[in-house]
Amino acid sequence: MSVIDMKGITKRFGDLTANDQVDFSVREGEIHSLLGENGAGKTTLMKILFGMLRPDEGTIVVKGREGLLTPASAIRRGLAMVHQHFMLFNPLTVAENIVLGHEPTKVFLRKKTIEGQVASLARQYGFKMQPGIRIEDLPLGTRQRVEILKALYWGADILILDEPTAVLTPPEVDELFENLRRLREAGKTVVIITHKLKETMALSDRVTILRQGKTVSVLDTKETSPEELARLMVGRDIRFDAFPAVESTQPVKLQLIDVSLRAHADIGLRHVDLQVRAGEILGVAGVDGNGQRELASVLVGLAVPERGAVILNDREVTRQSARKRYSQGLGFIPEDRMDGGLVSGFTVAENLILGYHRLAQFGGNRLNQPAIRAFAEGLIRDFDIRGAQPDTLIDRLSGGNQQKVMLARVFAQNPDVVVIAQPTRGVDVGAIEAIHDHVFALKQAGKAILIISADLDEIMKLSDRVAVLFEGRIVACRQRSDWSEENLGLSMAGRLVDSKEVISA
Ligand SMILES: Nc1ncnc2c1ncn2[C@@H]1O[C@H](COP(=O)(O)OP(=O)(O)OP(=O)(O)O)[C@@H](O)[C@H]1O
Ligand SMILES: [Mg+2]
Repeated sequence: MSVIDMKGITKRFGDLTANDQVDFSVREGEIHSLLGENGAGKTTLMKILFGMLRPDEGTIVVKGREGLLTPASAIRRGLAMVHQHFMLFNPLTVAENIVLGHEPTKVFLRKKTIEGQVASLARQYGFKMQPGIRIEDLPLGTRQRVEILKALYWGADILILDEPTAVLTPPEVDELFENLRRLREAGKTVVIITHKLKETMALSDRVTILRQGKTVSVLDTKETSPEELARLMVGRDIRFDAFPAVESTQPVKLQLIDVSLRAHADIGLRHVDLQVRAGEILGVAGVDGNGQRELASVLVGLAVPERGAVILNDREVTRQSARKRYSQGLGFIPEDRMDGGLVSGFTVAENLILGYHRLAQFGGNRLNQPAIRAFAEGLIRDFDIRGAQPDTLIDRLSGGNQQKVMLARVFAQNPDVVVIAQPTRGVDVGAIEAIHDHVFALKQAGKAILIISADLDEIMKLSDRVAVLFEGRIVACRQRSDWSEENLGLSMAGRLVDSKEVISA
């Protein structure tokens, strides 16, 4: 029996049709993946289901009753959406967050009572949870568990998760999936949006694929493969195999020597030694929050370490500004597109020349608009930035295409050394392939590249050498072929540490 039946849903934003006669049907008690390229219309469809957006056409039936919902009636009907940016109050405890907004107003609830309730709810579904801990003291994976428990406490029996694994570590992903399977056993229904096809294969019963706003396929997971799913999403074959690795003997272009950085309230960096040679990709693996941001900051000149040295092209640049380093051939692609990367409210062309607009090719201080336009058109073509004209607002592009704008901007300046943080987070398989091809081509052209990524598949596909960052230290650094996925996982959890001699080799 289906619990959700959306039929002929159409949603237009101006002249863009985000959902075009979409049919989406979910059976009671199944785990259902909703797949599609960036911009295919997945989030829009779920927002329509929740009454956060009004469709232009179409009908919705939830649990046999037809009619559009509002966010309030959606909750009453047992729907819950677990957002990627958690909506929890950090200074409060787990139990307080779960019960918050739901406690009987005039009754004074004792701490012990609500903690007891939450503990028994967690036990009922087999979730690991300590109700008395403050949210701010919990890792992200556990915070997400709190969001799910909160939905269950509120009586939800249909859970919708929009890219829930993007910020989780591999063990946290396993735990989440274990929990979702338990919910299925308890008769709950789960809809999950993800770009990771392995996850879809491992978790879901059925899959719906959207392409360019239309439903293209509904499949039993058992009867498909990641290759077929990718082909249906993107409309062509996608390569998943690793690029060839090399042992570069070319000169060292970027180096950290015994760098330590104290970061307030954060892990910081401790005695970090790193080298990146021309013609190689060094992958820095690690669970987010182990010093990744600090590492990028020190490398590009957004933070000055307390000790140690940063060497770029044989010159010490430890105290030099980012701008100075960029003019000496460093390129930087930050992890958060909208924080330090792109400027919201600017056009694609403006974003493509951002930080480089003083260059003579753009007219120096008086901007040469025709030259900028031609430059932007060239990059839009070369990088296949979909849905973009030079004067399109950056905000209108989907996540993957915004990411391509950032890459194009930096790569167009032909830097010798490139630091890229989380190159493909939230990006679809087609765009990942294109981005990886660009990065590999840069390496082939002799550039020195450092990639910081929490995605093991990405690290293993691209890197020549892999270093692991754990609690602010490089705990191991080896050639790619000397790593297994299992060892890498252990090392990322701090359970496999190479000796200092090996590391600084
Ligand atoms: N409020 C809005 N105004 C204008 N266009 C929008 C709006 N919301 C979404 N769009 C556009 O609608 C299309 C579908 O967007 P949606 O966010 O549903 O995609 P998605 O499948 O969730 O993609 P992603 O995987 O990148 O999250 C995109 O082209 C997007 O730019
Ligand atoms: Mg989305």
